[in-house]
Amino acid sequence: MPLVSTRQLLDEAAKGGYGVGAFNVNDMEQIQAIMEAAKETNSPVIIQASRGARAFAQDNYLYHLMLAAAELYPQIPLAMHLDHGNSFETCESAIKLGFTSVMMDGSLKPDGKTPATFEENVAVTKKVVDYAHERGISVEGEIGVLGGIEDGHGAGGSGLDHVTDPDQAVEFAELTGVDSLAIAIGTSHGAYKFTKKPDGSVLKMDLLIAIHKRLPNTHLVMHGSSSVPKDLQDIINQYGGKLKETWGVPVEEIQLGIKNGVRKVNVDTDNRLAITGAIRKVLWETPEKFDPRDYMKPARAAMQKVVALRMTQFGQAGHASDYTAISIADMAKGYKNGTLVTKPLVAAK
Ligand code: 13P
Repeated sequence: MPLVSTRQLLDEAAKGGYGVGAFNVNDMEQIQAIMEAAKETNSPVIIQASRGARAFAQDNYLYHLMLAAAELYPQIPLAMHLDHGNSFETCESAIKLGFTSVMMDGSLKPDGKTPATFEENVAVTKKVVDYAHERGISVEGEIGVLGGIEDGHGAGGSGLDHVTDPDQAVEFAELTGVDSLAIAIGTSHGAYKFTKKPDGSVLKMDLLIAIHKRLPNTHLVMHGSSSVPKDLQDIINQYGGKLKETWGVPVEEIQLGIKNGVRKVNVDTDNRLAITGAIRKVLWETPEKFDPRDYMKPARAAMQKVVALRMTQFGQAGHASDYTAISIADMAKGYKNGTLVTKPLVAAK
């Protein structure tokens, strides 16, 4: 299957009432782990790369690895997504390269750190939407500001510092015509999300439910969705690591989100933890080893295990063969002739 539009994946997920994991990558082994997990669970999947990943891997390597994935797994609907684009130019370059969707994170200024005004966010996001839709590419916007920092991008602080205002979310969706909307409900990027076990009241799920009620047809996106499992933390610390005690987002909270309009679930940290733990274990137990394959193979397998589990928990497992890909050229036609609605259906308060 050629690379598929994220919009199509999310439309199908909405029909089926499930969420689609969007997993971050920087290298070949991570892409291989995700594709094997998708094959194992028969899942459609979004693979995403941040600006940091693009700088680390270089665009051409990344793009051709993604094409290889699409070629090797023709049965898997696969979208290639830009995570946290910081400007029109970043999104434009991703689209020119061949990404099938982009996130324009206009919640922050182009420095990727300072919160932007609502007007600035609307203006840059709308500019990206116009450019992208003409080319059949879907766009994720962000309203409210996530906590933490990922790959140098983020306002830092707690995820509760700038939670999304439902009225602003509605206005933002109407003014920009985004295909999906990342909202801030208390999650943050990275391993250090919560200092105590979340008890169900930590995330603003009431806010998420309120936004979904007002924007029933807008696909919601949950960033910072790693669960930071204790067993993965323990492996790292058992083999010489020094992680401080921390908690992530409980899977049940994500599943509640999926019941209430969340269609894209971003996960990066859990995979980083799995990879690092597996590498540490090999190097700790067999310090004489020096062939990278000796630790990269278990690292890849450890990530595959986490991704396959999340695919099952998010409900995307079993849905890879539900539909055939709409070409990006046909997506462009759909945006132009109005069959792909981007004006959100807004429900009364
Ligand atoms: P985590 O750090 O929780 O994995 O979040 C990743 C993310 O939201 C990428 O945009």
